[in-house]
Amino acid sequence: MKIRSCKFIISAVSPKQYPQDEMPEIALAGRSNVGKSSLINMLLNRKKLARTSSTPGKTQTINFYKINEEYHLVDLPGYGYARVSKSSKEAWGKMMEKYLTTRDNIVEVVQLIDIRHKPTQQDIQMYNWIRHYGFKGIVAATKLDKIKKSQRQKHISQIRKTLEMEREDILVPVSSINREGKEALWEVIGNAFIQKGYQITIEEASEI
Ligand code: GTP
Ligand code: MG
Repeated sequence: MKIRSCKFIISAVSPKQYPQDEMPEIALAGRSNVGKSSLINMLLNRKKLARTSSTPGKTQTINFYKINEEYHLVDLPGYGYARVSKSSKEAWGKMMEKYLTTRDNIVEVVQLIDIRHKPTQQDIQMYNWIRHYGFKGIVAATKLDKIKKSQRQKHISQIRKTLEMEREDILVPVSSINREGKEALWEVIGNAFIQKGYQITIEEASEI
């Protein structure tokens, strides 16, 4: 995917703050600290467009980015951070449910899973939720650089099995550090646009 322009639009909490331009969008979901914001930066070739942090729970709003004046990437607030109060967990649930149910321009939801660990109960719930709302769900297994090549298949199989993924369900291993998996993930995202009938300019990547 050639990125001609990308910009941060808004940190939203309620639907009235969502961008109203009706561009199709791809959302990224996953635990706190799994690497959602880093993946957005990696996909867009930007170092600091999406804010990242080693402190989990950093992104607590729904952050919209506009790409090539054609579509949005959406950084969803992370879950599973233990030191979050019950009330903010409830607020998180309501915010996610509102987003997933009221937004009809969502093309796909990418669910991020740390490749090192077995998906948690909340990961399983999130993946099922995505599918319940009618999306296929694309799994991006993050932090690929953290495991040995010889261990990859074992970890991928464990994720697929725990999430009860079928053979045709898509999992792309990625690393935001060494950028492995970037083109593969763009291809999957591009196909999701095509399948939903959106005319998105997908040019062969010219960058390395
Ligand atoms: P929240 O905003 O809290 O939900 O977290 P997030 O999912 O946006 O995670 P973020 O992108 O902020 O990354 C969390 C930490 O993981 C940071 O210290 C990143 O540098 C690190 N990280 C993210 N992706 C990778 C990766 O592919 N490889 C390695 N080694 N570290 C990564
Ligand atoms: Mg984040």
